[in-house]
Amino acid sequence: MKTGAILLVGGMGTRLLPLTLKTPKPMLQVAGVPFTEHQIRKAADAGVSEIVLATSYKAELFEPYFGNGEKFGIKIKYAVEKTALGTGGGIRNAAAALDKCDQVVVFNGDVLSGHDLSAQLDFHRKNKAEITLYLTKVLDARAFGCVELAANDQVKTFLEKMENPVSNLINAGCYIFNRQVIEKIPANQVVSVERQTFPELLAAGISVFGYLDNSYWLDIGTPAALVKASADLITGQIKSSATPKHSGDYLISPTASVASNSSINNGSVIESEVYIESNCQISGSIIGSGAKIGSNCRITDSIIAPNTQIEAGMVVIGNYLGF
Ligand code: GDD
Ligand code: MG
Repeated sequence: MKTGAILLVGGMGTRLLPLTLKTPKPMLQVAGVPFTEHQIRKAADAGVSEIVLATSYKAELFEPYFGNGEKFGIKIKYAVEKTALGTGGGIRNAAAALDKCDQVVVFNGDVLSGHDLSAQLDFHRKNKAEITLYLTKVLDARAFGCVELAANDQVKTFLEKMENPVSNLINAGCYIFNRQVIEKIPANQVVSVERQTFPELLAAGISVFGYLDNSYWLDIGTPAALVKASADLITGQIKSSATPKHSGDYLISPTASVASNSSINNGSVIESEVYIESNCQISGSIIGSGAKIGSNCRITDSIIAPNTQIEAGMVVIGNYLGF
């Protein structure tokens, strides 16, 4: 069985503004590498042979970093949407670039998860499903795709972002499609996989299964979630083979300079060429490359954009500066 993958990375990242003014959400640094790298490694680790990046917003920024994928142990291709085609349209468009395969893993480009992708693939085959959705449980499903499951794990209903959710099971943003099912999505038009494709295929009797996995799950679509994801990767709450090797609960680039009486902890990342003066406390934060932090600063759960200067004595808590 050959498995290809599509990574949906074409969204505008509106909830992350201003972080996404110059950088698309999937290229923002999380634990020292662009977020997308964590997902690409996850696909490669599960035996996926090639992945197509479905890009639109700031599409030109992906290829210079990821190239043909050689460095990441997977073949990488690009499917650019001149105008965004939506999640379903993006899947249909990107599938045309895939080599021949039996099934396709589709990832939302902004989900950090500890779920077992190999187990999801086994589940898909065992159930002879046409589509298998990875599901997780949340307290409040209103902001997500909400799913009702039958006793045999078959999906009964899929309802995107509703005021009165019918369950606390949500679409966690990783699907397996049998290759030919993707052809049912209309080509060259804007289609939402969540609002159109899933409800329509369910109504047509296509077998859609739900694979429930309650391990670590986070949508990094807000600044607070992004900085939490980064810290959780560094402190080891979630493992990724893309996280650079480090010891302790911080990651400091070898080209950064940190005064010896400044403390860096709780999953902080200090990127290349950063300069941190004396007596600073950096906790759970990302300091972008080339930033300069004056003495006596306290920076907690925050992101400092690359090349930003923070004056001595500043206290920054849950803030995102310099973007
Ligand atoms: N190529 C392409 N083209 N990608 C797109 C487009 C597009 O037009 N629109 C969105 N995407 C990508 C985004 O970049 C993101 O990675 C993914 O599709 C999902 O879009 P979001 O905008 O992040 O959606 P959401 O977070 O509101 O909801 C989705 O994710 C939830 C889980 O985090 C839905 O899939 C929900 O059902 C789900 O519960
Ligand atoms: Mg999202």
